[in-house]
Amino acid sequence: MVLSALAAVSGTVVVSAAARGGSGAELAAALATAADAARGAELYRNCAACHGVDGGGVADGSIPAIAGQPQPVLVKQLIDFRRGARLDIRMEHFADRRHLESPQDIADVAAYTAALRRTTPAGIGSGAELATGSRAWLDSCSGCHGATGQGDAARKLPRLAGQHAGYLERQLLDTADGRRSSMTAIHRKTFKRLSPEQIAGIADYLSRQQ
Ligand code: HEC
Ligand code: HEC
Repeated sequence: MVLSALAAVSGTVVVSAAARGGSGAELAAALATAADAARGAELYRNCAACHGVDGGGVADGSIPAIAGQPQPVLVKQLIDFRRGARLDIRMEHFADRRHLESPQDIADVAAYTAALRRTTPAGIGSGAELATGSRAWLDSCSGCHGATGQGDAARKLPRLAGQHAGYLERQLLDTADGRRSSMTAIHRKTFKRLSPEQIAGIADYLSRQQ
């Protein structure tokens, strides 16, 4: 009884430590590998069903645009879903090892996605909080993300410009509520201090950037 309980406990510890070590190693491996966008095109077929063949997502924000996102950012997001650091049942499924077997697969599909040019226009906000939002963005976010949220592969900064407003607003609210554990502590703290109007406005402002 005691022995089997101990075995169960130590089994759990071993498994979770391996999972943690594995995912850190996997991220490093996927970032270090030379990516092949042509191979990635094959893997992207699964993704197209939801994100669209152009990677533009859905304007209402139910599915984000992913085209043109820097490759290292896509790699990190896919691994976050794969290891459950970011929760979404659809993405956890399609980023798992049956769909993307190896770090190479992740690097390749990310390279293909990064090179996509989208045709789906961004779903923008109502405009009501645009002035509030652009002020809050310039005060609290642009120091790191730049004036228009362009993204940067070398600094692993996500491209936020042109993302659907509905999607961004939900991400910011989820982070403030502690439902997105993969976001950094500084984001959680900053988002918590923002009003709902500022959050809606930031999402609207970013959705209108090219
Ligand atoms: C069944 C539909 C579906 C499929 C298939 C799918 N996705 Fe997603 N994806 C989503 C949804 C929904 C979200 C938003 C999840 C959330 O709200 O956090 C998302 C989010 C993402 C994000 C995060 C974007 C961001 O900026 O926050 C990336 C990157 C992504 N998907 C890439 C992919 C790739 C690459 C594939 C193929 C390997 C894929 N997805 C397949 C539905 C899907
Ligand atoms: C100290 C620098 C810094 C500040 C300030 C900052 N960010 Fe970020 N942000 C980053 C970095 C670096 C990343 C990528 C790191 C990561 O993926 O965890 C990021 C990621 C993000 C993401 C995407 C994360 C994902 O995985 O989808 C969003 C959305 C975001 N920031 C919004 C904001 C907003 C809105 C503000 C202002 C209220 C802000 N950030 C302030 C540095 C910053």
